[in-house]
Amino acid sequence: MSGGCFITFEGIEGSGKTTQLKLLATHLRERGQRVVAVREPGGTPLGEKLREVLLHPESDPVPLAELFLLEAARAQLTAQVIVPALAAGAFVLADRYADSSLAYQAAGRGLPWEQVATLNAVACAGVVPHRTVLLELPVAISLSRARRRPSTTATNRRFEDETLAFHARVAEGYQHLARQFPDRVRIVDGTGPAEAVQQRVLAALRGVLP
Ligand code: TYD
Repeated sequence: MSGGCFITFEGIEGSGKTTQLKLLATHLRERGQRVVAVREPGGTPLGEKLREVLLHPESDPVPLAELFLLEAARAQLTAQVIVPALAAGAFVLADRYADSSLAYQAAGRGLPWEQVATLNAVACAGVVPHRTVLLELPVAISLSRARRRPSTTATNRRFEDETLAFHARVAEGYQHLARQFPDRVRIVDGTGPAEAVQQRVLAALRGVLP
């Protein structure tokens, strides 16, 4: 990993990651930076197919199968998109990355934390974000937001259909990550208008932005 800068956005559903990622991409492009924006699961032709399977309520994978599908999509995205973009000196902005698997598959589903961390390390092939923005919103608010958004449909709502207790465990998993990696993972208050949140995001990225 050399040259570029890798920034990831994390948080539970409806926490505003995607909006903030787009605002940051615009901010950087306006300053002449090359930006590559990706999302997980997805971001490659294979990854987008796996995404469909992963989000469809009928798939019903066991937790370990879910993890392997996510790691397959991650390995493909890392090798095909992230590593080349970083080598070319771009800013790579990711809507979720390996931390999502620790929060969702370890803390949320109950898979052993170290097992998920090991598989993450294999799929990421040494790539670690320079900074991770963890957007925090009360679980009940963000979940109801996510369930109501037009992009949530009958064929992709498997995670939105999970219980409040599941999402609370995911949120707790994220807090654990922020304690484990305080230099990399920065908690950002996601409440209030998007412009106000963006100012907090920029403050959390001090030191890695030009
Ligand atoms: P998406 O519609 O992108 O949700 P959001 O907009 O909230 O990011 O769906 C991605 C879903 O996949 C999300 O509910 C979380 C789940 N997920 C995991 O459980 N583990 C992972 O490692 C990743 C990348 C995503």
